[in-house]
Amino acid sequence: MKCENIIAKMKTKILKNSKKSILYAAELLKKGDTIALPTETVYGLAGRYDNNKTIEKIFSIKNRPLNNPFIIHYSSSDLALADIYFDSRAEILAKKFWPGPLTLVAKVKNKKISKLALSGLETVAVRVPSNKIILSIIEHVNIPLAAPSANRYGKLSPTSAKDVYEELNGKISTIYDGGSTNIGVESTVVDISKKETAVLRYGGIDESLINDLTNLKRKKIVSKKFLSPGLSKSHYKPNTPLRINASYPKKNEGWLAFGKKPKNFKGIILSLSKKKCLKESAKNLYKMLRLLDKKDITTIAVQKIPKRGIGLAINDRLERAAYNSKFKNE
Ligand code: TXA
Ligand code: MG
Repeated sequence: MKCENIIAKMKTKILKNSKKSILYAAELLKKGDTIALPTETVYGLAGRYDNNKTIEKIFSIKNRPLNNPFIIHYSSSDLALADIYFDSRAEILAKKFWPGPLTLVAKVKNKKISKLALSGLETVAVRVPSNKIILSIIEHVNIPLAAPSANRYGKLSPTSAKDVYEELNGKISTIYDGGSTNIGVESTVVDISKKETAVLRYGGIDESLINDLTNLKRKKIVSKKFLSPGLSKSHYKPNTPLRINASYPKKNEGWLAFGKKPKNFKGIILSLSKKKCLKESAKNLYKMLRLLDKKDITTIAVQKIPKRGIGLAINDRLERAAYNSKFKNE
């Protein structure tokens, strides 16, 4: 017997940026729809933070396990802080980095937040993005938005509306086109729910800047000591196998360079940054992995990238993308 598909395929519309589109997107969200929006890090798949049905739909569209909670996005630091229990650490970090690519994990105070979005935890991840489009949309909806990255679970995060279309075409009603994202990797997630501050995920903020903040000076942040539900070893995967920390490309490989392209190599080459700029590399990382993934190559070989500043986030994503790969990864 042939059964009909339960999730009906829908036509996905791409909205051009305009005042009218902001109002239209806000209206859809208010009604409980889930749509893809730009942030300064990566595109998110957003929905009202207080609607279980909407949240359930986001989990199902992404095929994401229910034990991996979402980040709640706010239009101001005051509103974000009002929903958590916090101490001076949150005030200092919020003042310095919001709006921007920082996510704080703290004990949840607001009972309206969907339990499903929190995966039943007593903590919540909150952030105030700096992208003007999402900020304006949240202000118009006047309700915070739960939003994971707008990719299928385990795949590369999208940094443009076209990337979202490739990931979720037919599964969502609307993608808001806000151009390419500025930072290119996800936000830095910092856990302040316990006495000891911990960086759960490296991201758009240089970790050393967080450590340098006055009242954290004496207590160095313990990176990744407490596991975040979503920090699986394998993630952000292109379909083509990855060979990381490489020094030179082999025959039939695609080469993702950090710096100038190597002479005498005839294969496919892209450079994350010819000037070896880490910020430029982060911005190009997912975009270039996606481009190379479409080429007829055996492997994507990635040149060694320094583990400092945003280079920590780049290496973190590459290590997880290469997890379980057949290569020893030099
Ligand atoms: O830049 C970003 O953070 C993007 C944009 C769209 O805002 N969002 C994003 O969301 O990357 P997502 O869902 O792909 O990643 C959120 C991470 C996951 O690893 C999740 O497990 C973790 O944050 N997280 C959420 N709530 C948490 C909590 N209460 N405790 C610990 N980790 C949490
Ligand atoms: Mg994600």
